[in-house]
Amino acid sequence: MAASTTSQRGAGHVPVLVDAVLDALAPRDDAVYVDATFGGGGYSEALLGAARCRVFGIDRDPEAVARGEALAARYGGRLTLIAGPFGDMERLIGPFAPGPISGIAFDLGVSSFQLDSPERGFSFRADGPLDMRMSRDGASAADLVARLSERELAELIAALGEERHARRVAHAIAAGRARGPLVTTGALAEIVRGAIPHHASRREPGLDPATRTFQALRIAVNDELGELDRGLAAAERLLMPGGRLAVVSFHSLEDARVKTFLRRRSEPPRGSRHLPPAAAGPAPSFILRSRRAIRPAADEVARNPRARSARLRAAERTAAAPFAEARP
Ligand SMILES: C[S@@+](CC[C@H](N)C(=O)[O-])C[C@H]1O[C@@H](n2cnc3c(N)ncnc32)[C@H](O)[C@@H]1O
Repeated sequence: MAASTTSQRGAGHVPVLVDAVLDALAPRDDAVYVDATFGGGGYSEALLGAARCRVFGIDRDPEAVARGEALAARYGGRLTLIAGPFGDMERLIGPFAPGPISGIAFDLGVSSFQLDSPERGFSFRADGPLDMRMSRDGASAADLVARLSERELAELIAALGEERHARRVAHAIAAGRARGPLVTTGALAEIVRGAIPHHASRREPGLDPATRTFQALRIAVNDELGELDRGLAAAERLLMPGGRLAVVSFHSLEDARVKTFLRRRSEPPRGSRHLPPAAAGPAPSFILRSRRAIRPAADEVARNPRARSARLRAAERTAAAPFAEARP
């Protein structure tokens, strides 16, 4: 498949926390890994270079998969690329009969290729269609902005953007769309910037006032939190005992979910010694590699500003049944 013009123009994606992810996954020869968010292929390439392993690279963005074919060709059959959402990873890799999976990596959110392509509609910095669909199908951000009521917009922007001024923003969007359809990132960004009080923007110098609203719409358009829940549950089912999970997230909504998922699954069974073992709750399905999230060092953030908000959580799969299945 030929890479599209967008991919050829993309400025490239610098992988975030790649050494820490490699350290967490500890790749071994002849083992099988899943790179659930292939993007620019930085994690896949690091895994393939570190051991004679096999990697399945998944991305729901067909452009990322097309761009990755050159890397797959270089690794002669050790890298298999699959287009689709990682929430469906069992169905996606199943036909390849991959055998036991030794490690799964998630690097959440969007790539620089996506952010830096105005026509994908993720960026408030450059004007483009108000799209934001990673997979290019389903409802776009423009559809959401047109369809939701002012109240629904306010709730979405508050919940998924953690925007304190969500009601003002939603009101301004509703007024804006009454004048004509809101179909470009530039028009939406202008409306949001105008709705955020000056004193609030001054409190966060360097942060564009449109950031949180764009984040909220992107998460909603791509059902990113639902995907994360499904992806983590699939990883728990797929990983072999001793297999490693590494998740890099970029905002607190994602990180909180990953943290809760791993904390629940790594706690020893509760209950008392008077209870029969079955009533004490499931045995831990993961062992945490560290209690705290790993953050990038200052020099990585200086080299790659996108790393600023990154957090890595890593864990090792035990031999216990997946948590949901182990519940009585
Ligand atoms: C931050 S980039 C990954 C960058 C990659 N680690 C690298 O080093 O080049 C995230 C990628 O994951 C993809 N993605 C995000 N959510 C996804 C999902 N639910 N299923 C599949 N791919 C997803 C995006 O399309 C994007 O290409």
